[in-house]
Amino acid sequence: MLTGPPRPPRHPDDQLGRPFTLAMNTEIATTSACGQLRSVWPPLHGHQGHLLTLDAVRRFYAEEIAAAATAELPPALVEALARVPRERFLGPGPWRIMRDASRPGVAAYRRTPDADPRHLYHNVLVAIDAERQLNNGQPSGNAIWIAAVEVRPGDRVVHIGAGVGYYTAILAELTGSSGSVTAIEIDAALAERARQNLADHPWVTVLCGDGSAIPEADAIYVNAGCTHPCAEWLAALSDGGRLVLPADHRPHARRHRRARLRAAAP
Ligand SMILES: C[S@@+](CC[C@H](N)C(=O)[O-])C[C@H]1O[C@@H](n2cnc3c(N)ncnc32)[C@H](O)[C@@H]1O
Repeated sequence: MLTGPPRPPRHPDDQLGRPFTLAMNTEIATTSACGQLRSVWPPLHGHQGHLLTLDAVRRFYAEEIAAAATAELPPALVEALARVPRERFLGPGPWRIMRDASRPGVAAYRRTPDADPRHLYHNVLVAIDAERQLNNGQPSGNAIWIAAVEVRPGDRVVHIGAGVGYYTAILAELTGSSGSVTAIEIDAALAERARQNLADHPWVTVLCGDGSAIPEADAIYVNAGCTHPCAEWLAALSDGGRLVLPADHRPHARRHRRARLRAAAP
């Protein structure tokens, strides 16, 4: 009996069962209706049933955040999202992912089934401290607000409410080593975690404090709840400096406001 070359495998999501051929090195990724990654073919790296490399998942995540964002994200910010490993900041999994913020404490979260870092690469809030409902914020929201603060290479940036430092790292990728980022976190244990997480960004300084004493800055990004800009923040902004802050401290009612300051003519 004549036998030809082995038949190409069927795509796992090919519901109609039609045979298809794959060119060498062709990758097919499919997304579910809600935009989350379902599968890729052919498999790149088998890992607990997931088939994409972590780098590829992180890039897919960055591009999803950009595609879903309600404002244009600068390419450098999308690159930073694709580069910075969220799992390094959140510690070992499993993690708690915010599901229903109206429920108290840990009831607000679902637990990831395992410690596969791919669970972190969705547009989700991840608990830093579930009891306190203290979260690593939603990527799409933070991306839009970071875009609004217009960080440029060489800028001096202050990040108030740094948590464990994930968005500080994104800001630091945008300033580059020619700039500087001062990250301020009021919780001493979190500040220490942020300091360790950011050790490979020597142009970042992590301070434990309440954000009332800050150095001169071209951009200030506030993640801590506040009702108005502190006089010290306004005084610290350079000519043309940008400030983005949440103008309402109530959960789910956050409206980030952006102010641009220019020094008055003498
Ligand atoms: C919503 S969490 C966001 C953490 C981080 N930006 C993230 O998304 O991973 C707010 C953080 O602000 C800190 N915080 C609250 N008030 C602060 C203040 N006055 N100065 C500095 N940090 C503050 C909290 O301890 C908490 O870590």
